[in-house]
Amino acid sequence: MEAYEGVDKMRLAEVESPKPGPGQALLRVNYAALNPADAFLALAQYPAKPALPHILGRDGVGVVEAVGEGAGNVQVGQIVGILRCEAGVNVWGTLAEKVVIPAASLAPVPAGWEEPQMAGAPLTFLTAWQALVQWGGVPEPGQTLLVTGASGGVGVASVLLGKSMGLTVVALSRSAEKAQTLRELGADYVFDPASPSLRKDILAAIAPRKVDYVVDSVGGALFNQVIATLGYAGRISVVGRSGGPVPEFNTATLFFRRNRIGGVSVGDYTPEGAQAAWAEIVRRLDEANRRPVVDRVFAFEDVKTAFQHLAEGPMGKVVIRIGA
Ligand SMILES: NC(=O)c1ccc[n+]([C@@H]2O[C@H](COP(=O)([O-])OP(=O)(O)OC[C@H]3O[C@@H](n4cnc5c(N)ncnc54)[C@H](OP(=O)(O)O)[C@@H]3O)[C@@H](O)[C@H]2O)c1
Repeated sequence: MEAYEGVDKMRLAEVESPKPGPGQALLRVNYAALNPADAFLALAQYPAKPALPHILGRDGVGVVEAVGEGAGNVQVGQIVGILRCEAGVNVWGTLAEKVVIPAASLAPVPAGWEEPQMAGAPLTFLTAWQALVQWGGVPEPGQTLLVTGASGGVGVASVLLGKSMGLTVVALSRSAEKAQTLRELGADYVFDPASPSLRKDILAAIAPRKVDYVVDSVGGALFNQVIATLGYAGRISVVGRSGGPVPEFNTATLFFRRNRIGGVSVGDYTPEGAQAAWAEIVRRLDEANRRPVVDRVFAFEDVKTAFQHLAEGPMGKVVIRIGA
């Protein structure tokens, strides 16, 4: 990326191979995965403004090719995935043949997982985990979770983790085809966020309960309807705002049911915190015999088409094959 002019202006170019410093490992990247934040960063619509030229890409899987001093147990030749770190944010990322990653942010590909599944999972699952447990730990089984943008990376992760906690999951998707996939992934109810009877339909489906938790990555005009589905002490974790700003917000809607809204930031994890959360995520997915959902794998040369596909609304993660 040579300018802050969007992902369409990125260019495939030769650069010098990076070298691992102390505590770091050099990976030969097999697969990278895309996140909407990559596209925001490329338009300077993100807090980080790395020096140019920059290489995007926060998620990935690769083969350890070299290690710096003090890189712990990481072994040359091992295939590893990347837990959220500064790669693709303030330092060069995974849309490259080689990338340097702190050893503390590497994790093995879990047994039985395919490499593209691992490549796409960490950032969105860590985000969904924080969104679900930030209110005081793992929610009680039997409570109700509403997931907006449920077909997206964070949405699918929230549905799978919510089911692993024994929650009743209500998912929202604009697409009937994706609604079917979300049911197969365990969502108990799926509704179209554009339906004029959305609030009524959700409350009728989960009656006599109301919504206890929300993972919201859409915001926009939908946000007030989401608030209207909350029960007493219902909580909304705000992850993103694909639907733009909330057009009108009346703080009084929060008073009487003592509802709470809280931001989510995956950048807040320490390497140790991310490792602990990741271990719990993998354990839960294994226990439920579920895997992260890969929408499509694109060739490295087609990365711009892949970003367009992501912007249209994926069904799971958009992955890029680089060296595999
Ligand atoms: N706060 C954090 O730390 C953090 C971490 C990760 C991601 N995020 C943000 O969270 C958001 C979601 O991330 P993601 O990786 O899940 O994105 P994604 O994979 O692109 O999925 C977003 C989903 O939202 C729905 N959607 C998209 N545009 C919409 C619109 N205009 N109106 C209604 N629904 C819309 C789509 O579902 P349907 O087509 O099925 O309706 C889409 O599949 C992004 O804004 C991302 O930047 C924040």
